[in-house]
Amino acid sequence: MTQERARWGSRVGLILAMAGNAVGLGNFLRFPVQATQNGGGTFMIPYFIAFLLLGIPLMWIEWGVGRHGGLRGHGSVPGMFQTLWKHPVAKYMGVAGLFMPMVVLIYYCYIESWTLAWTWFSITGATRGLDEPTMRAFLHSYQDLGNHSVHGFWTPFIFYFITITVNFAVVMKGLSGGIEKLAKIGMPILFFFAAVLVVRVLTLHPQTVNGGEISGPLNGLNFMYTPDWAKLADAKVWLAAAGQIFFTLSVGMGSLQAYASYLRKDDDLTLSGIATAATNETAEVVLGGSLAIPAVVAFFGVTGAVAIAKGGAYDLGFVAMPLVFNKLPGGTIITAAAGIMWFGLLFFAGITSSVSMATPTTSFLEENFGFTRKKAGFTVASVAVALGLLHILFYTGGFLSEWDYWAGTFGLVVLAMMETVLFVWVLGPSPWQWRKVWSADNKMWNELHDGAAWRIPGFYRFVMTYITPLFLLTLMTWWTYKEAYPTLMMDGIDPAEHATRWWSRGVMLVLLAGLMLLTRIAWSRRRARGEDL
Ligand code: TRP
Ligand code: TRP
Repeated sequence: MTQERARWGSRVGLILAMAGNAVGLGNFLRFPVQATQNGGGTFMIPYFIAFLLLGIPLMWIEWGVGRHGGLRGHGSVPGMFQTLWKHPVAKYMGVAGLFMPMVVLIYYCYIESWTLAWTWFSITGATRGLDEPTMRAFLHSYQDLGNHSVHGFWTPFIFYFITITVNFAVVMKGLSGGIEKLAKIGMPILFFFAAVLVVRVLTLHPQTVNGGEISGPLNGLNFMYTPDWAKLADAKVWLAAAGQIFFTLSVGMGSLQAYASYLRKDDDLTLSGIATAATNETAEVVLGGSLAIPAVVAFFGVTGAVAIAKGGAYDLGFVAMPLVFNKLPGGTIITAAAGIMWFGLLFFAGITSSVSMATPTTSFLEENFGFTRKKAGFTVASVAVALGLLHILFYTGGFLSEWDYWAGTFGLVVLAMMETVLFVWVLGPSPWQWRKVWSADNKMWNELHDGAAWRIPGFYRFVMTYITPLFLLTLMTWWTYKEAYPTLMMDGIDPAEHATRWWSRGVMLVLLAGLMLLTRIAWSRRRARGEDL
């Protein structure tokens, strides 16, 4: 590793890029649906606990793992794990940190391409004047290539291709010239659009909907946050809350670590880490929570919103929201402007996240195979397009849901568990060395505080060493038993989808095997070069 590693241009740029990584579709689409489906106000309790005991510690751990590995020349998790634990198996465990961002990148860009398409449709007015059934048909015709009632066969391919091209144009421009610049432009636009829409939504006048029910935005907030205490005893709610914290903060993935690998030894990570987490939570709870659900309740009432939220995040974002915009007072211009702002904000939220998912594999190819940034980016983009085509072709067969579940929901906890053990227990003191946890030579703690602009409250030594791993272990066990096993067996899935879902899993396994193999080759080359492994 003779060549100098790329660096972030500025502290502000770094935080915006990290926040851009975390703030994504998850904040504006996934969060409101998860909260609504899992007990509303009661959901916020496990959500907040998971944020304090999992989200924040993992944020610091991932920045720590990333900087530790980056200083030793590694921009992706296989090498990072190897620097923490000298066992040959460490790098293979780290392959999770290449595999999951790659998997999520591919399907996430597909959903991101819808946001681009719907921005375009808001400009052309294609969704103007549609009512509920025709708006649904508009989305479903786009998702189902066999249904040409509205869109042509090629439309989704074109938007996907544009989305991938824009993503990789940014990635290939490099760290400060591409990703950081995108964040500096995209994040302010996103916050501005979101703020304007929140003000518009919250100032809507209550009106009569559904023949009699008087409904306004406050009914929406009320509905979203009214506690349902019985749900607190429901394991499902705790799993959903933890899952949302993982997904929204991008922890347990490999992408935050990849960004953190470009830090210098004396760059602060304690304050920057918490600033990133706080920015994400503001975008999620304050902005994400005040948009879709209150808007939909204001026009469709609680009953209407419940029905729509049952259909999931995509119906909420791409069917219900354009219907709301059609009903906004002010006419065509307002309808168009609201649509452009909503889908535009989703697009910027999405792209600042998806470029982060492309980063681990791109750096992996650069660092281990001597690819230039352009060649590495082009290679990753080609694989993404090739596999992305399968998502477009087989979306209605459940192809995408499988990837979203195994990598985007379940996989995160597995990687989080591995990195916590390696960083906190292997680099730092083992759990039974409890004296050392509190002593001045707690290596994990000292590593986090290199260059620190702020000292993490001391009780987080205890949280990181005992609580976070225990919480993760409990989650993993519970999750496996309650969800992963039934999901694996396809309980409750329409038998017509089984074949597609099985080979969707097959494709993921091939990708995993390919990345394992590349890792093996990379390390035998390192050995041949006489590098200290
Ligand atoms: N946090 C992002 C969101 O809320 C998603 C995301 C960003 C992500 N980077 C990731 C998911 C890496 C998985 C892997 O939408
Ligand atoms: N599919 C989930 C739902 O319909 C939410 C979801 C999972 C999601 N992954 C996502 C939403 C990525 C946006 C982006 O509720």
